[in-house]
Amino acid sequence: MTKNRARILIIDDEHDIRLSLRGILEDEGYEVMDAESGERGLAVINRSTDLVLLDIWLPGMDGIQVLTRLQEKFPDIPVLMISGHGNIQTAVQAIKLGAFDFIEKPLSLEKVLITSQKALEFSSLRQENRNLRLNTKIRSVCKITGQSKAIKELRQAIYQVAPAEAWILITGENGTGKEIVARSIHLKSRRADQALVAVNCAAIPEELIESELFGHEKGSFTGATGSKQGKFELADEGTLFLDEIGDMSLKTQAKILRILQEQTFERVGGHKTISVNVRVIAATNKDLHQEIKTGNFREDLYYRLNVFPLNLPPLRERSDDIPVLLEEFIGQLSREHNFKLLSFSDETIKILKNYPWPGNVRELKNFVERLYILYQGMKVTPVMLPSEILRGSTSMETNDDFFHDEEKLPEDFKQARSRFEAWFLDNKLKEHDGNISRLAEAIGLERSYLYRKLKNYDIGPD
Ligand SMILES: Nc1ncnc2c1ncn2[C@@H]1O[C@H](COP(=O)(O)OP(=O)(O)OP(=O)(O)O)[C@@H](O)[C@H]1O
Ligand SMILES: [Mg+2]
Repeated sequence: MTKNRARILIIDDEHDIRLSLRGILEDEGYEVMDAESGERGLAVINRSTDLVLLDIWLPGMDGIQVLTRLQEKFPDIPVLMISGHGNIQTAVQAIKLGAFDFIEKPLSLEKVLITSQKALEFSSLRQENRNLRLNTKIRSVCKITGQSKAIKELRQAIYQVAPAEAWILITGENGTGKEIVARSIHLKSRRADQALVAVNCAAIPEELIESELFGHEKGSFTGATGSKQGKFELADEGTLFLDEIGDMSLKTQAKILRILQEQTFERVGGHKTISVNVRVIAATNKDLHQEIKTGNFREDLYYRLNVFPLNLPPLRERSDDIPVLLEEFIGQLSREHNFKLLSFSDETIKILKNYPWPGNVRELKNFVERLYILYQGMKVTPVMLPSEILRGSTSMETNDDFFHDEEKLPEDFKQARSRFEAWFLDNKLKEHDGNISRLAEAIGLERSYLYRKLKNYDIGPD
């Protein structure tokens, strides 16, 4: 687990101690640096340091002060304190402050090696864990869930276009997943190891957009106290995600067009020409054809960006994806927060599939989060749904037509009675805000009998 080329920094003012520690550790194959003071140690340490051996008593900045600084700047690098005779108290304090362990002078060769190895193993395990968590998180954030034809085709298109260098224009209503599509293209592209820089064109004020995109030199305008790289520079060799491009002013569109064509620019207030190599993925929820007609969007920019179009259909046109999306979001939430699972009755799913979801997948995701807070561990039935969903769902109207729809006539009396009972109880329960006791009283049934009925018909809380 521990790489033997781990880099260890020794901070101790005693020359002999530094020398003997260096000897022991180098014999084990570690790479060793040393410093005779805290100040010097803080100056030479960097991110590639794997472990620090730190003397408690130091002239100038003492060990505890150095430890505190290390914890602030490099919280992931483990620190082993070296404590002289008589400062065990301080060593204990150091551990409380986050030191991994301490070793006492006179130093035992064996103890130094064992403790160093443990500290290195611990930190590499912690790092591995963190990477794993991060990877899972990135993967789940960019996972495009769905079984509908449209989503399957979308996944196929991403798979094909991602490794190519083609520029892409993603269109779709609010919340249909434009951003996760852009991210997943980047992750599957040859630029995946480089940056994906996202720019929300709608959120940047007109007068700042040039400096945001192209950077600026110190003093180029009031408030430019230092020079700054723009998004184009930051995205060099990587992907630039221009989000909400339909919301850019015509003036900005003209500037962007020039840069997209030439891939060179100057920083605001600068004279040096900077060349970059970026892949552009643009997204908008506007109908750009319409915007071109009304003169709000430049046609030449549209053709420049629209090399490969991807259109994301609204959720209402692929309602078959709703059950899998629910499952995905419930899985994500329960993993993230250790929540108990949430399930949905068939009737509820029907209602959700018939609701038009104007905010698309984002609205569905928010809806699941809201339900989770209220009903974790339960089965969701129609009465638990927010009223705007009940009202907005077309399936509720069909429910009201129960007695008028001749085609739906049941086969036999038993079936007819069951259907009526289910319909009646479901609607009555809503009338009583899901309160079973009140409903039992109102319709003259015994509570436990009613409860069994509701359970049979899959109505109401478990
Ligand atoms: N197919 C999908 N599978 C899983 N999650 C999805 C899917 N589509 C969208 N989401 C989730 O829905 C939310 C909204 O998606 P995203 O931000 O990508 O949409 P958008 O089209 O960029 O929206 P807007 O136009 O409002 O910016 C995100 O949390 C995203 O993870
Ligand atoms: Mg978006």
